[in-house]
Amino acid sequence: MSEALRVEDVHTYYGDSYVLQGVSLRVASGQLVTVLGRNGVGKTTLIRSVVGFTPPRSGRVWVHGEDVTRWPSHRIARLGIGLVPQGRRIFPSLNVEENLTVAARGKNGWTLDRVYEVFPRLRERARHRGAKLSGGEQQMLAIGRALMTNPTLLLMDEPSEGLAPKLVLELAHALLQLKERGLSILMVEQNLPLALRLADYVYVISKGTVVFEGRADELREAEDVRQRYLGV
Ligand SMILES: Nc1ncnc2c1ncn2[C@@H]1O[C@H](COP(=O)(O)OP(=O)(O)OP(=O)(O)O)[C@@H](O)[C@H]1O
Ligand SMILES: [Mg+2]
Repeated sequence: MSEALRVEDVHTYYGDSYVLQGVSLRVASGQLVTVLGRNGVGKTTLIRSVVGFTPPRSGRVWVHGEDVTRWPSHRIARLGIGLVPQGRRIFPSLNVEENLTVAARGKNGWTLDRVYEVFPRLRERARHRGAKLSGGEQQMLAIGRALMTNPTLLLMDEPSEGLAPKLVLELAHALLQLKERGLSILMVEQNLPLALRLADYVYVISKGTVVFEGRADELREAEDVRQRYLGV
């Protein structure tokens, strides 16, 4: 099976602060892989390491089989990475349709209509400014924007953060559709039920290292891991 992403023994620092202490993981093409962990364990740092914002001090990163470890971020992005950053950075002064349109890259694939099919709520809000959207709608818009870049690998940083349970369900439904369309997805989360529902494979990190990996059903059974590292 071909690989969308491989991270091997990555060590990442902020100055003297040693955050990722040897993380390895992989996302096979078409898989949805989740990285779970509590606040401050290094989830965002992992994404920053993959896209080159905070390059690893040692270890390697491959995207679609290319060793991108020392590449600048703009070059890594061109391999087809769609990034949905933590805290959903959308343009507050642009309306939904404008937010989506400015992100469009490439002629094939994702269009406004296709994004609206996955997120019907965004079609209803097409003329509303970003600032007027609810948290859940902003999150859908942030994902829609990433899709408009026609990614082959989607990186999502805590998409369910701060969403009401009903919107988490809507989000889950949309993410399943993306998975069915064959998109490769790495999703960083704290929401265990969401991860268990969607993920083909799950990693749990604590203090910058992987403390568990397995299929969703294996994590469901691993009560000690859930209690110790996720508090549930
Ligand atoms: N720019 C930075 N400079 C210095 N330290 C940082 C920086 N960003 C994060 N850290 C530290 O690195 C560690 C990991 O942070 P990171 O943001 O990767 O965690 P996280 O798992 O994404 O947490 P959360 O669930 O709260 O988003 C934390 O101790 C954090 O304080
Ligand atoms: Mg984070």
